[in-house]
Amino acid sequence: MAENIGNLKRTHNCEALRSKNIGEEVVLAGWVQRRRDHGGVIFIDLRDRTGITQVVFNPEGNKDVHEKAHNIRSEYVLAVKGKVVPRPEGTVNPKLPTGEIEVLVSDLKVLNESKTPPFMIEDDIDIAETLRLKYRFLDLRRPSVAKGLIMRHKVSTSVRNFLNGEGFLDIETPMLTKSTPEGARDYLVPSRVNAGAFYALPQSPQLFKQILMVAGFDRYYQIVKCFRDEDLRADRQPEFTQIDMEMSFIDREDIMAMAEKMMARIFKDVLGLELTGHFPVMTYDETVTRYGLDKPDIRFGLEHVDLTEIMKGCGFKVFADAASKGGIVKAINVKGGATLSRKDLDDLTAYVGNYGARGMAWIKVTESEWQSPIVKFFTDEEIGRIKELTGAEVGDLLLFGSDKAEVVNESLGNLRNELARRLKLVDADTYSFLWVTDFPLLEYDGQTKRHVAIHHPFTAPLDEDLSLIDSEPAKARSKAYDLVLNGNEVGGGSIRIHDQSLQQKVFKLLNISEEEAGAKFGFLLDALAFGAPPHGGIAMGLDRLVMIMSGVDSIRDVIAFPKTQKAACMMTEAPSQVEPEQLTELNLSLNIPKKED
Ligand code: AMO
Repeated sequence: MAENIGNLKRTHNCEALRSKNIGEEVVLAGWVQRRRDHGGVIFIDLRDRTGITQVVFNPEGNKDVHEKAHNIRSEYVLAVKGKVVPRPEGTVNPKLPTGEIEVLVSDLKVLNESKTPPFMIEDDIDIAETLRLKYRFLDLRRPSVAKGLIMRHKVSTSVRNFLNGEGFLDIETPMLTKSTPEGARDYLVPSRVNAGAFYALPQSPQLFKQILMVAGFDRYYQIVKCFRDEDLRADRQPEFTQIDMEMSFIDREDIMAMAEKMMARIFKDVLGLELTGHFPVMTYDETVTRYGLDKPDIRFGLEHVDLTEIMKGCGFKVFADAASKGGIVKAINVKGGATLSRKDLDDLTAYVGNYGARGMAWIKVTESEWQSPIVKFFTDEEIGRIKELTGAEVGDLLLFGSDKAEVVNESLGNLRNELARRLKLVDADTYSFLWVTDFPLLEYDGQTKRHVAIHHPFTAPLDEDLSLIDSEPAKARSKAYDLVLNGNEVGGGSIRIHDQSLQQKVFKLLNISEEEAGAKFGFLLDALAFGAPPHGGIAMGLDRLVMIMSGVDSIRDVIAFPKTQKAACMMTEAPSQVEPEQLTELNLSLNIPKKED
């Protein structure tokens, strides 16, 4: 039976008591981690989100209390009153902050019972994630999981303190709004009072923050939920949180400097680490050339070596074809990698296959020879050039990719990260930031056969590339920047277009007709015509940042109630069906294709 707190008002949390508290009468409340019965003396580890204290029920003490303690099971909720005493010699537990003391219980209330949990409330146990998420209220009791949420709180507190101190205003923007194009599908919400009309949940507050700049709020921030209906991965959730910022009368260096200062403050406040100096900056072109990806992890080498030129006329047809028909040939020199087995190489070949590579050529450099199925196709001169460009030495392994540039860069870029993981080339406790700048303004979308904005359509072109907008738009670069941390994109932003005619021109480039632009973004074009200041901003992915800072592999671990790969919440079972009346009220009817057996 569940008892009420009554007079047992909590005086300390379960991590608070130390030797200095010996002799005090205290009240603790929490959950039963473990109960042990030692010949009549009952020991209970009482847990709350802060830690554990051992409480003791002595048969010589209050008989009723002792009797009640007998029936207690794991995860029961208790309030206990008792005296802090030193643990007997030999029973001190140096692993627990409270390990020098225990609480000798004189009064007990069983605030609630608990069914046997479906898994142990302990760290380092292997539980299926679906089960963890179904019983998230139990999962969150595990200290390692709670740690992520506590760190998240510390990060957002640090962000608020920093930005408030810098004169930013926290302003809320609507959740029921119009689509803001950030490259994903919208989540739509039907309007009851406007039959047939829909709101979109914001993919970001992008347009509102720009409008706030026009309104004169020259430093804005918000820690804000964003919604994107896209394919989910370990670093993507359908609803996630941004630290969203915007500033007026600035250029990109000002935004980057402000973001660096904010990161330095967060790392100092939360991890006690000093980030010194500016973060390195690399252009988009350089990242793709050297690492294949525009979010490289620069904590290790394994840089790409471009061999396209020297492979153009070579005897290995696969390379020669790629090199002479508009593709590229690249290699990675894995230092000391000649010891990798045939199975390792097969695994790595299968790995690059996930990124569209049709194979992976390799050469092992041994004392006596260049061991490889392809080496016989090369002339001595070509081998000499490969050696020179890759810096190959005895004991090294060369891995090659050849195909269209996108395929080679994507597959070898990811291979580089995979090699670092397998060969343990990175120290998990190091943090390495990188700015990536000068992104192309546009990219060609093969599916819709039109240009789309790489960042978003409101991003300004580089001043020196303005003339390219008319002549060669595909070559124009933008004032967009991404912030990369340990190979993850943790932030992205840009300087915006604040000139109405330029914005209209960019819409046109993106194949957005005047009517469409008016219907979708008329309010922005309007605002730009009423004295828009030069402005720009950035948004950090809070979930990703906390994921990296807490050393976990998925953002699901730092979100209280995350969704699965199928965008479902295992606990509430959302999304779910609704009553027919609700659909009628919304003027909706369902048209679900029948599943084939
Ligand atoms: P962008 O689309 O680059 O920029 O998003 C900013 C940052 O948000 C994080 N992020 C995500 N995190 C988890 N799940 C997702 N599905 C997800 N999508 C994005 C990333 C990313 O770097 N309005 C612009 C910002 C601006 O221009 O100021 C924007 O939203 O860490």
